[in-house]
Amino acid sequence: MNDCILVTGGAGFIGSNFVLEQIATGGLVLNLDKLTYAGNLSNLASLQSEARHVFVHGDIGDRGLLRNLLSKYHPRVIVNFAAESHVDRSIHAPGEFIQTNIVGMFNLLEEVRVYWQELDQDSKTDFRFLHVSTDEVYGSLGPADPPFSEQNPYQPNSPYAASKASSDHLVRAYHHTYGLPTLTTNCSNNYGPYQYPEKLIPLVLLNALEGKPLPIYGDGSNIRDWLYVRDHCTAIREVMSRGRVGETYNIGGWNEKTNKDVVHTLCDILDELKPREQGSYRQQIQFVTDRPGHDRRYAIDARKIEQELGWKPQESFETGIRKTVSWYLDNLDWVQDVVSGAYKSWIATNYTRREL
Ligand code: NAD
Ligand code: DAU
Repeated sequence: MNDCILVTGGAGFIGSNFVLEQIATGGLVLNLDKLTYAGNLSNLASLQSEARHVFVHGDIGDRGLLRNLLSKYHPRVIVNFAAESHVDRSIHAPGEFIQTNIVGMFNLLEEVRVYWQELDQDSKTDFRFLHVSTDEVYGSLGPADPPFSEQNPYQPNSPYAASKASSDHLVRAYHHTYGLPTLTTNCSNNYGPYQYPEKLIPLVLLNALEGKPLPIYGDGSNIRDWLYVRDHCTAIREVMSRGRVGETYNIGGWNEKTNKDVVHTLCDILDELKPREQGSYRQQIQFVTDRPGHDRRYAIDARKIEQELGWKPQESFETGIRKTVSWYLDNLDWVQDVVSGAYKSWIATNYTRREL
């Protein structure tokens, strides 16, 4: 078998951060991405003349394409990032989430199962299928509940979360039924370079710089557990190389913050690094109608991955968020490329008539 890793969704936010780091470790990275609105090859511009990065424009649901790629490249590891990933979009239009996150996932697993079953015994033993999932499958925590552990029951509340829960169940079933050597990771909210500005942190940064309102849903006291994207990528690599087959690993930053606190922190850093002519960016904050079914609190108990694999986040929220703000300020060209017609029409769909 080649020293090849197949990454799906490697032109998206987390996938491209992962590919950029993986390339540095040697071996071939085969990157399969449909290039939806969230996929962006300019994230990988630094790999343009890198022979060890092979990009394929395609869908994880395309079984013929998958069959050809698997038989041509013989990957030892597959890391599946490909998904529709934005909760608000899943509320407006759930169909794509069912199509990619459930039907596409099934097609991918079917082709991988056939490929794996035909490998010789050593290659079969070495093979890994790592599915990247989310803490949202566990539902919402009350204020005094302990953080989500791997034992928490699945209680997905949005079409996005339900579609990811389905994909996790399929992965589990393919391990249990066919013996496919799978690993699943359930991670909390990521932030960092190359995040599409539909998600809270980059959206607030961009709106702040453009003098637009900074929309906080509801009362702003919903809590998320924030993890710097490169810490997530490191965790995935640890699970990929040393995780126990068939297991799931929760990944989180031990960084619970209310949305209001996150937005205040962003305003304060911008006030310091790129001050407005008058007053603070906080003046742009606007509380808007809440997201339907908005989960109150997520928090991850990341003790299993720490105890078994020795992984711990390297960035605190304070260090990671500063790096992130600086990255966006230094990469306004990337931002301008991303903020195209399609982006504008999403902003109109999600935020028109949302003002309280
Ligand atoms: P993203 O939306 O930025 O990127 C998704 C990528 O998948 C894009 O490049 C897109 O083009 C590609 N894609 C979509 N449908 C595809 C298909 N049918 N075939 C091939 N490629 C397809 O998402 P992200 O934030 O980078 O998240 C990556 C994965 O991590 C997702 O599975 C998501 O559920 C999971 N996750 C994300 C977070 C987070 O905070 N962003 C946290 C935990 C888990
Ligand atoms: O928890 C992991 C999940 O984190 C991932 O699985 C998802 O792919 C990822 O999108 C993210 O989901 P969230 O819904 O938590 O992320 P988002 O950035 O959309 O929102 C973060 C919080 O901020 C959430 O409580 C909603 C709120 N919010 C979001 C937006 C876009 C606002 O208050 N205003 C906004 O404009």
